[in-house]
Amino acid sequence: MLEAVKVGVLGLGTVGSGAASILQRNADEIARRAGRGICISIACVRDLKKQRDCDIAGMTLTADPEKVVSDPDVKIVLELMGGTDDALKLVLMAIDHGKHVVTANKALIAFHGNEIFQRAQDKGVAVAFEAAVAGGIPIIKALREGLAANAILWLAGVINGTGNFILTEMCDKGRDFDEVLKEAQRLGYAEADPSFDIQGTDAAHKLTILASVAFGVPLQFEKVHTEGITGISGIDVAYASELGYRIKHLGIARRTDSGLELRVHPALIPCSRLIANVDGVMNAVIVKADALGQSLYYGPGAGAEPTGSAVVADLVDVVRALTTDPENRVPHLAFQPDSLSDIPVLSIDEVYTAYYLRIHVLDRPGVLADVTRIFAAHKISIEAIIQKEQDARAASVPIIILTHRVNEKNMKGAIAEIEELDVVTSRITLIRLETLI
Ligand code: NAP
Ligand code: HSE
Repeated sequence: MLEAVKVGVLGLGTVGSGAASILQRNADEIARRAGRGICISIACVRDLKKQRDCDIAGMTLTADPEKVVSDPDVKIVLELMGGTDDALKLVLMAIDHGKHVVTANKALIAFHGNEIFQRAQDKGVAVAFEAAVAGGIPIIKALREGLAANAILWLAGVINGTGNFILTEMCDKGRDFDEVLKEAQRLGYAEADPSFDIQGTDAAHKLTILASVAFGVPLQFEKVHTEGITGISGIDVAYASELGYRIKHLGIARRTDSGLELRVHPALIPCSRLIANVDGVMNAVIVKADALGQSLYYGPGAGAEPTGSAVVADLVDVVRALTTDPENRVPHLAFQPDSLSDIPVLSIDEVYTAYYLRIHVLDRPGVLADVTRIFAAHKISIEAIIQKEQDARAASVPIIILTHRVNEKNMKGAIAEIEELDVVTSRITLIRLETLI
């Protein structure tokens, strides 16, 4: 067998330690697959004295990342430190030194991927990023290779493990938001800045990457409509459940005749759909493709070894391809770089979807007629309408309405008019409803 390939690692935290442990534990299996051994020869961390969750014997530890990216013995650099500024500088330096790069950093790829892939192409090296989306699930490989025959119509996923873990623990066990977030941080699921998980930014980074690989469009994070999980209340979870739905935080990318929808937000999903039952740190992505139809990819979305699994799988791919011509490698974004499409991304106002609405009104005759008249004027068709018990403290009655699919601009217009009615006692709660068919 050939000599082992030497790898340099930037970051030995949750993911770095997970990847290192897998490489050590499964060294023989990995060598049999890759055709040669793979070993970490040098690793960079901030704190050289910190206890590591992996065996560091045989590695040179340094606090100077430039030593890793310029080490002449290193063939592949793992960027597992996070952030976008230092990470970009170091990844570009590694590429300029002729190193291949494997990263789990979705923010880096979503923001700077276009530049990084161009530089990598110019230098004839590979940049692999399976671990950046949906933790250990091989969704990038599935889209880029397994579904290469298909036109992708849409995809939708639960793609933030921390957010799904928090929602599940709150809804199923009634636990407190802050307490569950702390547990997610302790388990190594959350981002360094956990607002990325809660506000939907992390899911938007991942959706940006998924959309590029699915539709062959450039990475365009700034065009993703992004909402987080903080607005989801227990009352809506309960009403949704009575109606046969669960609320999940979804990333959705859909090709339509007028453009591409890119959106991250909470959504009601029928309980009967498998994805409605993806709980805890698990992630899942449904892909609707023209030839295959629907397929579902499910697995752990965060954590040391699940994410390390994707990192090491990328390493094996890169090692197998070390001797191939750059032109014969799978393109970074699945489509040839000179064949990317400029299909426009739609604004959220142009999106068509169904809605769940909770409207609090005074219990007076004619109120429902006023509300439904406004919906009719905005061409909104109602699927179901339910009046709940009077809320004694608020002296109002909640009305729950499910609508058929309608343009979001029409819905916003109707809501603005309904909120003007003097019988409406508070702001209307709106959650999009996706049947995912
Ligand atoms: P982490 O536990 O905070 O680890 C980061 C590591 O990078 C630490 O070892 C840290 O050193 C080192 N580091 C950070 N900045 C550095 C710098 N300027 N110079 C030298 N070393 C530096 O983070 P993580 O959870 O492993 O996440 C790493 C990346 O993977 C992020 O991009 C994240 O978004 C992504 N990711 C994470 C998960 C997950 O489940 N955690 C899943 C998928 C993707 P010290 O240990 O000395 O502080
Ligand atoms: N913070 C991310 C999550 C890590 O919870 O999904 C995996 O990308």
